[in-house]
Amino acid sequence: GDCIVAVGAFITRPLAPGERLARAAERLSIDRRQIDAWAAGQTPWSAEQLWRVAELALEQFRAAGQIARLETEVRSLSVNLATTYEEISLLHRLANNLKISQSDEQLGRIAVEWLGEVLPAAGFALQFLPVVRSDVKLDHQARNTAVLLTHGQCPLDQQQFDALIAHVKPALHGRPTVLNRSVTGHPGWPFPQVRQAIVVALVEGENLFGWLAAVNHRQDREFGTIEASLLSSVAAILGIHSGNIELYRQQSELLAGIVRALTSAIDAKDPYTCGHSDRVARISVRLAEELGCDAKMLNAIYLAGLLHDIGKIGIDDSVLRKPGRLSDEEYAHIKRHVEIGHRILRDLHKLEDVLPVVLHHHESWDGDGYPNKLSFHEIPLAARIVAVADSYDAMSSDRPYRAGMPEEKIDAIFRAGAGKQWDPEVVAAFFSARDDIRAIARGQ
Ligand SMILES: [Fe+2]
Repeated sequence: GDCIVAVGAFITRPLAPGERLARAAERLSIDRRQIDAWAAGQTPWSAEQLWRVAELALEQFRAAGQIARLETEVRSLSVNLATTYEEISLLHRLANNLKISQSDEQLGRIAVEWLGEVLPAAGFALQFLPVVRSDVKLDHQARNTAVLLTHGQCPLDQQQFDALIAHVKPALHGRPTVLNRSVTGHPGWPFPQVRQAIVVALVEGENLFGWLAAVNHRQDREFGTIEASLLSSVAAILGIHSGNIELYRQQSELLAGIVRALTSAIDAKDPYTCGHSDRVARISVRLAEELGCDAKMLNAIYLAGLLHDIGKIGIDDSVLRKPGRLSDEEYAHIKRHVEIGHRILRDLHKLEDVLPVVLHHHESWDGDGYPNKLSFHEIPLAARIVAVADSYDAMSSDRPYRAGMPEEKIDAIFRAGAGKQWDPEVVAAFFSARDDIRAIARGQ
């Protein structure tokens, strides 16, 4: 850059006219008299004054150097700050999407798109590993093969990505693995299409959920710590989200296990009606679909169908297994199963949506049912639905002491009972979904 040079003349002893001054005047092309007059007017500097001037000059020089250094530092800090700001804003946006309802793949897609805006990589790859799942109906959708999401120009397909991970063996914990020319320029490097890459694991605790990679620098430069730390922050958030989903899945599985155990307890208690709970659950779901219920309601209805008669656990076997007509006293005893069931389940918070169905599935549309003689829309919809499914299965299935009713007779009973025993809208849903319901009852 520009350079300023200062020149000063310092007189340290009185000047007298002489040969040397005459030579100086000649060299500078100044008149001899003029330089003699100038020399006579000079006051010599003391050594202290000179020392002070030299010190001031040096100080000035040092300060200028300091300012230049600070300016460079400010420039690099503001670049870092901008990067940090982008990083924080990206992480903030990701954190806002950490809902359990958001699938890992949905969040992952958002993450790689955003990374594409702030990280100078040509392409990104995000792989989710398959999740080990049991075949539980209540579970979320299972993923049984690995999924590779890519963004930008990612030169790797699923198989090549697997091979890259197997070759590089990135660490599961700690720093991300940065692959620059020192690695990829090696003659034995098996992925010529990968010139630079950062690879980081998606982990939460001991669980490995997948891998996130940035592949090839857009300007063909080396990836540095800023890029690596951004990628590993994003991977950390994705790992936490996957961990949460896994925890939720385990809870659902536990709940499903509890429900299965309870359902088999009912079946063991009342072998005559074997499979009844399962059929009622499936028929109820079909009716609820016909009535336009949402996914959450369908899930609750399914559980409610399985558990609606759980209170039969508390009913005497002699009454429960008695073929033929029950005495008034026995009937009153059997009616108690709705309240017993309610008591059994009421402390399981995860099953709170099921409780109204357990308690009210024997209420009647006209208010003539039990236990609370509720009528019309006072009866929860799920209970009105399960009531129709329960009645259908009871009428259609064979019992040791009687055969199942013919379909025409069941239809006639429903037509007559719509608006009396049953909600007419649910009965209408029964008729529109009748073929499916008959197939469920036949065990198809
Ligand atoms: Fe019941």
